[in-house]
Amino acid sequence: MIILSIETSADETGVSLVEAEGSFPTATYTLLGNGLRSQIELHNQYGGIFPMMAKREHAKALIPLLQYSLEEADLLAENSSHLSSEKIDEINKILERETDLAKDLLEFLSKYELPEINLITVTNGPGLEPALWVGVNFAKAVASVIGCPVVPVNHMEGHILASIFDVVEEDQLAQIEFPAIALLISGGHTELIHMPNWGEYIKIGQTRDDAVGEAFDKVARLLGMGYPGGPEIGKRASEARTQNLPPFKSNLPRPMIHSGDLDFSFSGLKTAVLYAVKDLGEVELTETQKNALSRDFEDAVTEVLLKKTKVALDTYGAKTLIIGGGVSASPHLRAIFTKELLSSNEDTEVFFPIKQLSTDNSVMIALAGHAHKEGASTAGAVKLIKADGNKSL
Ligand code: KG4
Ligand code: ZN
Repeated sequence: MIILSIETSADETGVSLVEAEGSFPTATYTLLGNGLRSQIELHNQYGGIFPMMAKREHAKALIPLLQYSLEEADLLAENSSHLSSEKIDEINKILERETDLAKDLLEFLSKYELPEINLITVTNGPGLEPALWVGVNFAKAVASVIGCPVVPVNHMEGHILASIFDVVEEDQLAQIEFPAIALLISGGHTELIHMPNWGEYIKIGQTRDDAVGEAFDKVARLLGMGYPGGPEIGKRASEARTQNLPPFKSNLPRPMIHSGDLDFSFSGLKTAVLYAVKDLGEVELTETQKNALSRDFEDAVTEVLLKKTKVALDTYGAKTLIIGGGVSASPHLRAIFTKELLSSNEDTEVFFPIKQLSTDNSVMIALAGHAHKEGASTAGAVKLIKADGNKSL
């Protein structure tokens, strides 16, 4: 089965082609083509993501990325037939809010033929609404040409599957022992999820204010660094550790660490960093101070995440921990989680995504979409269980 996968939920546009052989969860996957374009530089200039700007950039990127993926997969063929006028009308109707994209797609289809694609998977939430719509409408338009089904995918489920995707061994999902706990840490989410089985997600904890990635980004901005903040804070923190710098702010809070539940809060920590900076008055922080403060902040975040995750593992008797989302790229977090869990819960297996699948991408959406298409017959119906009634994963 060849899957065309699309991701447009935030500031990365992803279009990939993945071949799946076999049934979920034991299928093997081959990445045939992977187009990914980041809008980071643009958003960096404006100091944040503006949804309408993100939408426009996705619309501009989708056709070049589709072409790139098809070329990489060696599946790009010149066209020998023409679209009927009814089909052209249908495409224009589906993309009536994205007229430039409709034009680009029709031009593409006048030159090239789409190969046989069996399934289209597309992120349909959570994310920036206008950005999501471009991806979903594009998926529908391409599906109308090919005549294949479209599977909508939850972005966070994509992050979970990305983390258990074993590229080194067999290009398939790792054998995991249930129940599992997933810690999802991204720019928009901080969640603990209890997974009794494949495809079953029960949210057991979440942030009450800022997401952890958002806290990294806000603290980075406060310290005069660019977006996204996570990687640079991580680099500076690591320098501070290498140089064994004394704390810049030794008593940063560990919010909600003893709250007795599995929720998080990061906005107070960000404010504490703000006051630490303000306390200096007009004086600018030196590079050394920025490094030390980055380390102090990263330590505080990691400590809280680790503590709550350990409680979740114990509470649910889980032996599997899946860590996903952009913040899981943090080398420090990886090192601490691996070391601490090995010493306290030795038989816990911890899964991290490979570097390329840590931050947003469309490959993870193909995996999750394939699970939904195939899962019903093999792993029990893939369903989304809402722990608190009205909030989705
Ligand atoms: O999953 P993701 O790519 O997008 C969302 O779904 O939000 O996560 C992006 C977040 C950003 O907040 C970014 O600062 C953070 O992931 N991030 C990191 C690192 N790389 C990206 N945070 C800490 N350390 C990193 N190395
Ligand atoms: Zn994400």
